[in-house]
Amino acid sequence: MYRLAIFVSGRGSNLLSIASQISKGKLKAEVSAVVSNKKECKAIEYAVSENIPHYIVGKKSEDLDAVSYNELIKIFNKKNIDLIVLAGFLRKIHDELIHEFKNKIINIHPALLPSFGGKGMYGMNVHKAVFNSSAKVSGPTVHFVDEIYDEGKIIDQKAVDISDVESPEEIAQRVLKAEHELLPEVIGKFIENKIRLTESRVLIH
Ligand code: GRF
Repeated sequence: MYRLAIFVSGRGSNLLSIASQISKGKLKAEVSAVVSNKKECKAIEYAVSENIPHYIVGKKSEDLDAVSYNELIKIFNKKNIDLIVLAGFLRKIHDELIHEFKNKIINIHPALLPSFGGKGMYGMNVHKAVFNSSAKVSGPTVHFVDEIYDEGKIIDQKAVDISDVESPEEIAQRVLKAEHELLPEVIGKFIENKIRLTESRVLIH
């Protein structure tokens, strides 16, 4: 069974969309761990309710139950995690995890990278910037995670027409819907071993 570790920070709707594809039998995978930087969030509530092992990553000085990135590496190796999915994780993950799981960490970003990415570009900030630019197309990007924020190679994207929107919230709604389709699709491609990273591009076949 293909084993996923999913990192979240809040609402967890992407986690839910992955879990629902798994329970429908469309994704042959298991959510083996949910990791968050926040103890109290909807995504962790979901993990608790579904009995999915969950971890709070951070400093023990801030939360006694928190685990460090080095502890997470040990846990993930023990669980034979195949893919780490950042699904709305709002912190930068530490380099040691990136090195240990090289090319096995993906992130979903709610805009078409390489535009509207980088520092400060998260949540509604992204959609406001897209709205104010007057762009006519937006949509989610799934990319590999490397040491530089939002700059890992792009794996896949879904274009969403936003030519008639009247607010950033409307963009957020349309893009989120596309995220819920794209992320499970990309995970499915990983499971089927259809994603190949060449020196310059990510090929999907
Ligand atoms: C999504 O828009 C994701 O692209 C971004 O944060 C949001 C998380 O939403 N990185 P949810 O927690 O999956 O509902």
